[in-house]
Amino acid sequence: MSKEKNVVTLTYGCQMSERDAETLTEITRQEGYNRTNDLENADLIIVNTCCVRESAENKILGKIGDLKKLKDNNPNLKIAISGCMVQQPGALERLQKRAPHVDIWMGTHNLHEFSELLHRSDTGAKVAEIWQEPHETKESTPLAEKGKLQANVNIMYGCDNFCSYCIVPHVRGRERSRKPDDIVQEIKNLVANGCKEVTLLGQNVNSYGKDFVPPYDFADLLQEVDQIPDLLRIRFITSHPKDLSDKLIQAIAKGSKLCEHVHLPLQSGSNSILACMNRQYTREYYMSIVEKIRELLPQATLTTDIIVGFPGETEEDFEQTLAMINSVHYSQAFTFMYSKRSGTPAASMEDQIPLQVKKQRLQKLMSLQNEESYQLRQRMIGKCYEVLVEGPSKNNPNRLTGRTRGNILVVFDGPQEIIGSLVSLRILEAGSWTLVGELVESK
Ligand code: 5AD
Ligand code: SF4
Repeated sequence: MSKEKNVVTLTYGCQMSERDAETLTEITRQEGYNRTNDLENADLIIVNTCCVRESAENKILGKIGDLKKLKDNNPNLKIAISGCMVQQPGALERLQKRAPHVDIWMGTHNLHEFSELLHRSDTGAKVAEIWQEPHETKESTPLAEKGKLQANVNIMYGCDNFCSYCIVPHVRGRERSRKPDDIVQEIKNLVANGCKEVTLLGQNVNSYGKDFVPPYDFADLLQEVDQIPDLLRIRFITSHPKDLSDKLIQAIAKGSKLCEHVHLPLQSGSNSILACMNRQYTREYYMSIVEKIRELLPQATLTTDIIVGFPGETEEDFEQTLAMINSVHYSQAFTFMYSKRSGTPAASMEDQIPLQVKKQRLQKLMSLQNEESYQLRQRMIGKCYEVLVEGPSKNNPNRLTGRTRGNILVVFDGPQEIIGSLVSLRILEAGSWTLVGELVESK
């Protein structure tokens, strides 16, 4: 019998990137590989990359460099690098020079070719495949993993927004939506394999279906998915504020499985910075959406992404971002220092902000948000929330963990049998990030 082959998949970046990594791992499973975390005994290592910020790229380049030692010790080891970093215009040559120990390079539009590329590299040949354009019918590989409670499902690919700081439209191509029937079928299959919660993924889910003739609305897709039997919860990311419709807010209010959580990237609270970022909304417009959500979905949690130190950002601009944190009351904010991405308009804007200033602003923003998160969680003490039980807690395997509909993590004591079901928990204690709860009743 031939020796079992092991694959280790490392992935960086957003959920879209994670979903791609799952696709690649599924392809290797079909090729007879067994998934492990053991780099030393791997026959294949996949590094699925991200290039949204320079810090991510540096970390990944370091990791790829580290893999050389493993390749030196085991010349039969195959190393495959995929994802956004590889797809950047002109990146391949630079990367190949820097990491000659890599066997396979593939761009974001070539995932479906992975098994072919693996075979082509059997002779020891170095292979690279990077399409500049996607191939519409080849984008989603269904996943066959059984017993997974939560799954990410692509509903669309790419982005048309060209925010001036962002590399994503340059490496993921133009917006293209998957057909509603294909999405519903994929989710039904996942549910048949034990999945209870899906997260619908797109760079801008609110413009889902606008590329169809006649156009189709994201809110209608949500209502269709809401009908799928045995699915317990539906989440979605990311919502671009400029495209978030009243119909969507109403659909969330109506749908029984639709979780009341909206990830609504603000990026900046200053109108002049928002204009330079090409975000196509003002702080006033953003606030009007927040008010509508608060009115129709009083239980909803809001999370956001914010960039500090965009070129030209003054102290006053930054103060306006802080003011938005005070008025929106996010349950969580993902905060970033602006990072120059070559090929994007912001990279050549004047008045780049010094690193020291960016760091100070990030610190200030994070401590304000931590306080907000803490206060929000404190207000939950004593109240009951529906939680989907996910499994043992990472920090204490004797306890269970799950998330509220608002996507807030709770740890609690309970029997293993309730994993995968909805329970009601009363909140007992709260920190900035986690809640401690107790079981009230099983639903
Ligand atoms: N620099 C810093 N943050 C960025 N993001 C995207 N591009 C950049 C950049 N060049 C952030 C945005 C986006 C999140 C996924 O990453 O906030 O919403
Ligand atoms: Fe990037 Fe803007 Fe598209 Fe989001 S909406 S992926 S920030 S270009």
